[in-house]
Amino acid sequence: MNDLLRVHGGAPLTGELTVRGAKNFVSKAMVAALLGETSSVLRNVPLIRDVDVVAGLLRLHGVRVEYDDDAGELHFDSSNVESAHVRDIDAHAGSSRIPILFCGPLLHRIGEAFIPDLGGCHIGDRPIDFHLAILRQFGAVVDKQEQGIHITAPGGLHGTKVELPYPSVGATEQTLLTAVRASGKTELKNAAIEPEIMDLIAVLQKMGAIISVDTDRVIRVEGVERLEGFVHTSLPDRIEAASWASAALATRGDIFVRGATQPDMMTFLNTFRKVGGAFHIDDQGIRFFHPGGRLNSIVLETDVHPGFMTDWQQPLVVALTQAEGLSIVHETVYENRFGFTEALNAMGAQIQLYRECLGGLECRFGQRNFYHSAAISGPTPLHAADIVVPDLRGGFSHLIAALAAEGTSTVLGIEVINRGYEHFMRKLAALGANVEAG
Ligand code: EPZ
Repeated sequence: MNDLLRVHGGAPLTGELTVRGAKNFVSKAMVAALLGETSSVLRNVPLIRDVDVVAGLLRLHGVRVEYDDDAGELHFDSSNVESAHVRDIDAHAGSSRIPILFCGPLLHRIGEAFIPDLGGCHIGDRPIDFHLAILRQFGAVVDKQEQGIHITAPGGLHGTKVELPYPSVGATEQTLLTAVRASGKTELKNAAIEPEIMDLIAVLQKMGAIISVDTDRVIRVEGVERLEGFVHTSLPDRIEAASWASAALATRGDIFVRGATQPDMMTFLNTFRKVGGAFHIDDQGIRFFHPGGRLNSIVLETDVHPGFMTDWQQPLVVALTQAEGLSIVHETVYENRFGFTEALNAMGAQIQLYRECLGGLECRFGQRNFYHSAAISGPTPLHAADIVVPDLRGGFSHLIAALAAEGTSTVLGIEVINRGYEHFMRKLAALGANVEAG
């Protein structure tokens, strides 16, 4: 696909599209398949680049992976897991952070793991210190080498007590994927409890794991000696669904998102309604639309579940440029997730960034040099511009802004959007967007 898109904006997006499984669950369930001694099937899998990357990594480790696009199904045979060559792993993993989650499963299956320098979106430092500390607690030996990190477990992996400094999604998954086959019991305090994590726990339980989730962010795991494969249907991608909802609002459009479900989007739906967006929920999906009239400014803080997801923030900010008055958005999950607002300002938005915690709560980033609060004055008409996509969600936001703006914008680097938005060009066409490649 050509990496440049010409967007003739200024028209509402209207129509229907389908959202399939959640990128941030599917990639983890694929890693879980590595733990099963028998074959697994994952359903409702979207055709996105992150799925390709993880499938490639699994194949490098001897797992047979087949994808049926029409059915949206992945089939895994992980009966013969083997070590992969360092250079191959490095070449393959470049754009993803998922390799860090291979550690526990690989240690259990073949006794060693190699992790190259990690990719992922540049939205903050994104360290892996929690992950390495957890692995060490289980008994792993971490050897930092020039090409990456080599991990072994000469004395085996043993259940342990972990308390996370912050409810990190990845670190919670790391603990789960390692604890399920470690000997003895593991207790994880201050765990993340995102719906994608609950779905991963469901997969692991189907495989034979024993995991309980208490009400106070405490997860307990009793290790078992063997895990089987699973058959599972992914929960829908609530980030993609919310992205299209924000696109409907920003372009004064009307989009039916087939596959979107209410329970995991409650916090988003409340905010969408407060801004002045309208929605109708039925058994097939959710229709998001601009009801006419003015949009309202709001004060918003991102947070871990059940708070407002950080990944919902960027697309919604585009809609907030069209709201009446001053909106405040305080980003408390990542220290550096407002880089995309520079391009919005170049298109006519008025967004000012602050180091202070503007939302009301003091977060980890207050009193430090991170511009992690935004004040958005609106409404400001957006005009066309030449934009370079910075990261996945920021890039999608730029696309929405270009679609809402009068005139023809060029958006460079749209390949990044394929990491997490399935068939987005096809979906844009179905919504009547006037876009052309090159
Ligand atoms: C997952 O990233 C998602 N990625 C992110 O989605 C999402 O934004 C994030 O969770 C929060 O919901 C995937 O699932 C592949 P974290 P993850 O560990 O697990 C700090 C998208 O656009 N931290 O919960 O990497 C970290 O810097 C992506 O789909 C450490 O300090 O996120 C951040 O400030 C972007 N040390 C905070 O914790 C560590 O070792 C939360 O990160 C790990 C994390």
